Amino acid sequence: MDWGLKNRISNIIKPNTGRTVMLAVDHGYFQGPTTGLREPRKTIQPLLPYADALMLTRGILRTSIDADADIPVVLRVSGGTSILKELSNEGVTTSMEEAIRLNASAVALSIFVGGEYERRTLLNLSKLVDAGERYGIPVLAVTAVGKDMARDARYLGLACRIAAELGAHIVKTYFCEGFEKVAEGCPVPLVMAGGKKIPEKEALQLTYNAIHSGAVGVDMGRNIFQSEAPVSMIKAVRSIVHENTTVNEAYELFNSLKNEEVQQKVPASKQAASV
Ligand code: 5RP
Repeated sequence: MDWGLKNRISNIIKPNTGRTVMLAVDHGYFQGPTTGLREPRKTIQPLLPYADALMLTRGILRTSIDADADIPVVLRVSGGTSILKELSNEGVTTSMEEAIRLNASAVALSIFVGGEYERRTLLNLSKLVDAGERYGIPVLAVTAVGKDMARDARYLGLACRIAAELGAHIVKTYFCEGFEKVAEGCPVPLVMAGGKKIPEKEALQLTYNAIHSGAVGVDMGRNIFQSEAPVSMIKAVRSIVHENTTVNEAYELFNSLKNEEVQQKVPASKQAASV
């Protein structure tokens, strides 16, 4: 790998642990103002110090993240669909030149293996890798799971391996039973998406299981920014990923931090009234 490409990957997957906690806030590119992300700047700002990288679109980067933010960017460059239509009908929405202009450490694109537009998304990935290699920009492939697909080891194993075969440098996928097999069959680093919001302890268990089944980290969104205490939650996720804590230790950390965080959100007037 070229020096630049390796250096950019090390911005995301931290060399001291070989792991990453990426904060995914790109949901709006197809589902609009997502719960917990209605005001992007307000949601993202407090979480930045605890994320190793930020996955988002150019629109949110330009409008909601200060240019002096010390955070590697994984730029979402596929899209062109919405929840109102066929989600697999994605194209490339952002050029490699724009990604370079935005100082992205990587670009991210979804593939829809088994979806109606499978071929187009796989060719999108191939072309993006060609451009990424040309400029030393790593490509993260997101294995989007079509509504008819079973999120099992067979399907995710197929999708992750195809992404790696086509040249993706990092693959983001979902956790499943037998994830070890998915990791075994994928020769590039895997990060786990969190998926729909679930109770914090379960999300921490998912993180622990993924890390100990072969993932190098998480690219988590809803299970952080939809938590009652997002900062406490990302700190707890970090403890599992970077400090090898147990689920119970991480959950205790979350509980020890959340009350203060929640209290800080209570308007002063209400706090005074509650005294
Ligand atoms: C949305 C995405 C998200 O980046 C990915 O799903 C991670 O977010 P979450 O943890 O909320 O699933 O690719 O299409």
